[in-house]
Amino acid sequence: MTDGRPRRAIRSFVRREGRLTAAQGRAFTELWPRFGLDWTPGAPFDLAALFGNDRPVVLEIGFGNGESLATMAERDPERNWLGIEVHRPGIGHLLLEIERRGLSNLRLLCQDAVEVLRSGIVPGALDAVYLFFPDPWPKKRHHKRRILTQELVELLARAIRPGGIFHTATDWAPYAEQMLRVLEGAPHLFENTAGPGAYAPRPASRPPTKFERRGERLGHPVVDLVYRRR
Ligand SMILES: C[S@@+](CC[C@H](N)C(=O)[O-])C[C@H]1O[C@@H](n2cnc3c(N)ncnc32)[C@H](O)[C@@H]1O
Repeated sequence: MTDGRPRRAIRSFVRREGRLTAAQGRAFTELWPRFGLDWTPGAPFDLAALFGNDRPVVLEIGFGNGESLATMAERDPERNWLGIEVHRPGIGHLLLEIERRGLSNLRLLCQDAVEVLRSGIVPGALDAVYLFFPDPWPKKRHHKRRILTQELVELLARAIRPGGIFHTATDWAPYAEQMLRVLEGAPHLFENTAGPGAYAPRPASRPPTKFERRGERLGHPVVDLVYRRR
């Protein structure tokens, strides 16, 4: 509160409802109860209870249409996968993919990932967090919406177990520089797996994403940043 009115949080997204296809609408009715998670802010998840086992959990923030998340979860059934997205058509798309591929190790949240990290994840609960091609918010007046801030790094450090991984990627060079600055600014929390100040070679474990392909069509070079929690 500054002038008596509650301060409006600056979010990394603008809610655009977008149209659901008929199939995506059906997915919300029939598949969300099985693969979607409803959440009350402030209530930490019991991830082992949710997945029915205590395997390591990987979180992807902002999975878009979820094709790459479905591929990662399918290739790596020994870990549990949690996806957070606010764009409902993307969530509907991924629900259909979960059904089509018969995945049992993937659950979805329709929430602001920053809020979930603040109060939904107990310390050290995650094996890894992936943030692929976050919205670059290229205009200067929108830079404050970029999700990868010092606050996010601190939330990630709280959520990721010692030795766990934070992996991000972008095709927007000025954002890449900002990411590097913010992450290198927390050497007590994260170690750069590529060496101080360096971008990482693209890990084979990261499937191409829709936004990455778009960036490549526009001629943008893609960089990966992979950090290990100390
Ligand atoms: C540029 S898109 C990239 C999507 C996907 N990772 C890809 O590479 O194709 C960024 C996505 O992040 C989502 N997003 C942005 N801020 C978010 C937040 N705070 N919580 C959850 N999702 C968020 C947006 O809705 C959008 O779908």
